[in-house]
Amino acid sequence: VIEQKVDALLSQMTLEEKLGQMNQISSYGNIDDMIALIKKGEIGSILNEVDPARINALQRAAVQESRLGIPLLIARDVIHGYKTIFPIPLGQAASFDPQVAEDGARVAAIEASSVGIRWTFAPMIDIARDPRWGRIAEGCGEDTYLTTVMGAAMVKGYQGDSLNDPTSIAACPKHFVGYGATEGGRDYNSTFIPERRLRNVYLPPFEAAAKAGAATFMTSFNDNDGVPSTGNTFILRDVLRGEWGFDGIVVTDWASAAEMMNHGFAADEKEVAQKAVNAGVDMEMVSYTFVKKLPELIKEGKVQEATIDNAVRNILRIKFRLGLFEQPYVDENKNVMYAPAHLEAARRAAVESAILLKNEEQTLPLGKAVKTVAIIGPMADAPYEQMGTWVFDGEKSHTVTPLAAIREQFGDKVQILYEPGLGYSRDRNTGGIAKAVSAASRADAVLVFVGEEAILSGEAHCLADLNLQGAQSELIEAIARAGKPLITVVMAGRPLTIGKEVELSDAVLYMFHPGTMGGPAVADLLWGKAVPSGKTPVTFPKMVGQIPVYYAHNNTGRPATKKETLLDDIQIEAGQTSLGCTSFYMDAGFDPLFPFGYGLSYTTFAYSNIKLSATDLKKDDVLTITFDLENTGSYEGTEVAQLYVQDKVGSVTRPVKELKRFARITLKPGEKKNVSFELPISELAFWNIDMQHTVEAGDFNLWVAPDSQSGTPITFKVTD
Ligand code: IFM
Repeated sequence: VIEQKVDALLSQMTLEEKLGQMNQISSYGNIDDMIALIKKGEIGSILNEVDPARINALQRAAVQESRLGIPLLIARDVIHGYKTIFPIPLGQAASFDPQVAEDGARVAAIEASSVGIRWTFAPMIDIARDPRWGRIAEGCGEDTYLTTVMGAAMVKGYQGDSLNDPTSIAACPKHFVGYGATEGGRDYNSTFIPERRLRNVYLPPFEAAAKAGAATFMTSFNDNDGVPSTGNTFILRDVLRGEWGFDGIVVTDWASAAEMMNHGFAADEKEVAQKAVNAGVDMEMVSYTFVKKLPELIKEGKVQEATIDNAVRNILRIKFRLGLFEQPYVDENKNVMYAPAHLEAARRAAVESAILLKNEEQTLPLGKAVKTVAIIGPMADAPYEQMGTWVFDGEKSHTVTPLAAIREQFGDKVQILYEPGLGYSRDRNTGGIAKAVSAASRADAVLVFVGEEAILSGEAHCLADLNLQGAQSELIEAIARAGKPLITVVMAGRPLTIGKEVELSDAVLYMFHPGTMGGPAVADLLWGKAVPSGKTPVTFPKMVGQIPVYYAHNNTGRPATKKETLLDDIQIEAGQTSLGCTSFYMDAGFDPLFPFGYGLSYTTFAYSNIKLSATDLKKDDVLTITFDLENTGSYEGTEVAQLYVQDKVGSVTRPVKELKRFARITLKPGEKKNVSFELPISELAFWNIDMQHTVEAGDFNLWVAPDSQSGTPITFKVTD
């Protein structure tokens, strides 16, 4: 039915009206200017308009005053919440809980759609293995499988059960594709990803998002091996439409069409429009080359009218699926923002996103003996900063900081000495540190909140130095000298190189940017009302020079052993001795600061009795892996158990291990559960030497483990 409606409408459209649908503008302040264009059918979508009354007025112009009455698609970057801000996506990924991702997206959709936004530019599912890249904050980290699962859950959350529901907003998996591999972690930079790696590592989350029904896709800013994504026929037509059967909208990134001129891929706006449309772009975000140049390109036969018709079909189809023709308007008096259920879900997400990196002698949770706490550091009471990047609409007045939450929850039980020491994360003025040290020396435990302001990560906010900024490290050193139990809480948009600060601390809780309810979540965790369960969604490097460092790397011909020879050892050995000749840095070793999948709990877990349903399998078998997980500590806690597999020998070299399954398992103290993972052998397929997606017969290693570096491999075999 929708296809018939689309074709009926299309058959009435002039070329100008078709090109109008392909044109997305960013809201102009002056609504009359927009209305004039809308009436002429020259705009198909508007981004960055959030006032429901204005949105209704714009829709009225489109629906009641334009010739064909085609509603607008109103878009906004609703990345980790609209008003109720959830942890940044990298934090959500640390939960290893797709429900967190789905709930976050659902709440965002309910709030955003209530003002008339029906399209978000999310989820960002770029695999990112370089924390210098500021946009690592917006995605799910380094792992293909984790990103695939979390990304699909986000699509489900945004789009709900049916796109047609007025609380659903169209998802837009981005950035298609490879943007996370930007050279040197510098934004907008080139990528060089060969097709096999593209297919094995970067494409699977997008394929899963398409299969989950994502209504739209966004092209990325990078050129891969010389071809900007916005002009890349192979990824947009052959893969996305041809192989995956995608029938939604492909939109460019902001001006990424026109930027093909800067790339040196198009000489002028005319060539931009020609290359983008022919490659498979349907809608242009703020470049205006389509409306300006397509009429002459069609006349010259360089772009076929059928290509334009297909692009417009894709756009109309999504507008119909969203139910915009039936319900273009919103109720201007509805207020669903910061609903208690939304805040509760955000708090739960922040709790699950927190990673306990260190907890010497059970410093945490804080017990009754702690009668006075010192609260120190620039992130203790920074309501805007704790929300993180890409927050346009969340308000700091609704954010609960750790200081506020601790005062509220525990202010009647413990004495609180608040001395920030520094004004903000980049503050180099050490004048306040003495007062902070004095507070620390009067306390039974010291909570130091450090990290990054929101502006230090996100688009175009890349860093070459990942140490704590400003005088935060000096602050921690000075506090440590006070000799009190030191708990460091980090709120940041990326993994930071905090080896020194971890050493100096008794406990470290990594929160990423936890959002609106970060304060209550951290208070719950510090006092044991909640128990940490997050795991690192990305490898934490010891130092920037170790980057790229990620667990699913291929092996070298000389794999590093644990007998690495570091610079210090060389001095002892002296002379021209062999250094072992394996692959590692002499000044950093081979291991990262924290591996992928790592995180502690207040309790402890024991894995035992790992069994495989078979050790000789056929390609269409399903392998069942069972194991016992026991809570061997004294708190109820949740463990994220992880299943990794290595294909030992292939027609091309394969990663040393790859995550294939994970599960969150909650156990009471002393409780033991038999857990099982089902793994279809077909999921061991990869793009092989012949560029076929296939399982190759041979031997495999398998680990069930608490992180990517632990566990003992068990072998199994796959035969033809
Ligand atoms: O959605 C974003 C994209 O991720 C980066 N450039 C701007 C777009 C729209 O705001």
